[in-house]
Amino acid sequence: MSKNLRLCEVAGVKDGEPVAAFAEGMPALAVYNVDGEIFVTDNLCTHGNAMLTDGYQDGDVIECPFHGGSFDIKTGAAKAFPCQVAIVSYPVEIEDGWVCITKPEGAA
Ligand code: FES
Repeated sequence: MSKNLRLCEVAGVKDGEPVAAFAEGMPALAVYNVDGEIFVTDNLCTHGNAMLTDGYQDGDVIECPFHGGSFDIKTGAAKAFPCQVAIVSYPVEIEDGWVCITKPEGAA
């Protein structure tokens, strides 16, 4: 059974200021506001041990704080070297003002 996980309140996520979020059984997550639309991805860079929420959001791109690699916030696709492997992007639902994702089937 999949279930919705509440991550944080929508009001706490400002455009350009990604927020770290945690949910049971999930890897570290990052919540973004891009022009008023909310997106959620894994927070850990696929190139190294960096949290993307410590990086720099420019529109729909998040730049890693370590080596200048970047990802597309909307799809998780790697955008700039040295990042080559996409981060996971999660479908988002807004429930009662909260940012929610569905725990993927099979996740711990
Ligand atoms: Fe993110 Fe190297 S750790 S670009």
